[in-house]
Amino acid sequence: MCGIVGYVGKKNDALKVLIEGLEKLEYRGYDSAGIAFLDNNKIQIIKKQGKIKNLKQFLQNEKAKIGIGHTRWATHGFPNEINSHPHHCGKMTIVHNGIIENYNEIKKDLIDKGYVFQSETDTEVACALLDYIYNKTNDINITIQIFQNTVRGAYAIGLICDDDFENLYAIKKNSPLIIAKGEDENYIASDMPAILKFTNRFITLNNGDFAKINSHEIKVFNKNGTEIEKEVKKFEGDASSIDKNGYEHYMQKEIMEQPEVIKRTLNEYLTNNMDQLFKNMPNFSEYEKIHIVACGSAMHAGLIGKSLIEEYANIPVDVEIASEFRYKKLFLNEKSLVIAVSQSGETADTLAAVEIAKQHNADTLGIINVVGSSIARETDLVLYTKAGSEIAVATTKAYSAQTALLSLIALNIGQNNIDRGELKELLECIKKLPTQMEILLNNDKLYQEIAQTLYTQKDIFFIGRDIDYAIAMEGSLKLKEISYIHSEAYPAGELKHGTISLIEEGTPVIAVVTNKEIAEKTISNIKEVRSRGADVTLLTNTNCDVESDFYHHKIVIPTTHKLIQPLLTILPLQKISYEVAKLRGANIDQPKNLAKSVTVE
Ligand code: AGP
Repeated sequence: MCGIVGYVGKKNDALKVLIEGLEKLEYRGYDSAGIAFLDNNKIQIIKKQGKIKNLKQFLQNEKAKIGIGHTRWATHGFPNEINSHPHHCGKMTIVHNGIIENYNEIKKDLIDKGYVFQSETDTEVACALLDYIYNKTNDINITIQIFQNTVRGAYAIGLICDDDFENLYAIKKNSPLIIAKGEDENYIASDMPAILKFTNRFITLNNGDFAKINSHEIKVFNKNGTEIEKEVKKFEGDASSIDKNGYEHYMQKEIMEQPEVIKRTLNEYLTNNMDQLFKNMPNFSEYEKIHIVACGSAMHAGLIGKSLIEEYANIPVDVEIASEFRYKKLFLNEKSLVIAVSQSGETADTLAAVEIAKQHNADTLGIINVVGSSIARETDLVLYTKAGSEIAVATTKAYSAQTALLSLIALNIGQNNIDRGELKELLECIKKLPTQMEILLNNDKLYQEIAQTLYTQKDIFFIGRDIDYAIAMEGSLKLKEISYIHSEAYPAGELKHGTISLIEEGTPVIAVVTNKEIAEKTISNIKEVRSRGADVTLLTNTNCDVESDFYHHKIVIPTTHKLIQPLLTILPLQKISYEVAKLRGANIDQPKNLAKSVTVE
């Protein structure tokens, strides 16, 4: 996902803020970077393929009162210098995150009007269109309104016009962009980490809003050009939550933060008072059907939520990959609840799914990590996970917080189906959970031993049943996205319907078994792959632990209440993935081709 930073201020710190801000956004994944700034009353642009450090060598310690910067995750055109941002055309210079869907027809029209294009990007077309309109209107506010009525798609744009070096302009639709308020200086950014070092006060823009920002004033307008009042919010996180705190990788830090994150997320909604168990959370029991829509790991968390809500709340739940949900025939009505699960709150497919759900009169709930993000503002209700800023592209702590919150929803709806004895036992288990997590997270020797058997492999299989299958899917995704080893997760009973043909001598199979009621069945499946030569790692809990010869490695985790068992089970798989990626020298925090949030379809 692209990153945007912009600055305007009396301290003339544009270059410092742009470079440091873009570096804080590197976690989003990118393949080129660039900045534009005012130098001797002219906009200078420096942009390079590759990392931000490639820009620094061209910068002395210039001072500049206004500038915009960009890290590009290529969507249209190769990740080369000419396609990187900022783009300049006529009197306009812009940076852009998103996709202009009708850029081809606009480009053809502008070519007919004499415009010549250098790059393959939709952004250069947007820049030329802004210039074309401005040449007709000679008014930037009107230009932006006409622009928004002309283009289709998603855009977060930072803009500088040659006729107005006092003001930085920001335009937002379906792509993240915030405005931040400093002292005698103001900023724009894709996400808070970019400017948290300079200020924690920010303004969120709604779709269609645009802003005119100078060193002492921020004016926000709606898409009709009417000036609107905006609340200045305070970001909850702090700069330390953005740094590595001594860990080698953000992913390692975030894995280790999970005990604290789970405690914070549970405490946000649980009172520990058996007679009034919940706070800050509606009950949701009036719905006849729940649809969980999400992508990637968030969808895997949704699968766990499905199993637990159906078991404890007796409400049928469908889990839908958001990019599929938005194009299928839907059977939604006012008795349906659509739960959108998203760490970033900016995933385009999940956001679109929410919009479609609302068009079908379903109520919508967001389980979101980033406060004030687009999905958080689009859903009727939002329950925030308390994971703090998650920097590593591969999610860990936010995934766990999503799982914890979905468990709480299952408990909240189904609390009357649980006797007081079990409820008391569950609350006791919740109290022990952070310590149990800490112990599991500090067993590196075992995880490193297992990683040694895996890091040279070409294919790795994960199997499990019911919730353990959902966890196997997440373990498989973690492994492949940071180590680049091909891996697949299968329902344990499914392997023999075809894929077992791939099992050879030494093929690694990681089997997850934590549900005693179905453990025997899964152990039979494990023996099937073991008898064909598989190298088996058994991840089980004390309840299902067996001594036998059908595995080579065994990880035994504590048995806890079913509603929170997944929060323990996933931890060894996260740690093993991390150790495998380290052994392979992979770029753990920013895996190739990946972005922290996929704000394009
Ligand atoms: C998980 O490690 C991946 N980074 C990815 O699958 C992610 O979970 C997915 O893109 C959804 O992102 P979101 O939670 O921000 O919507």
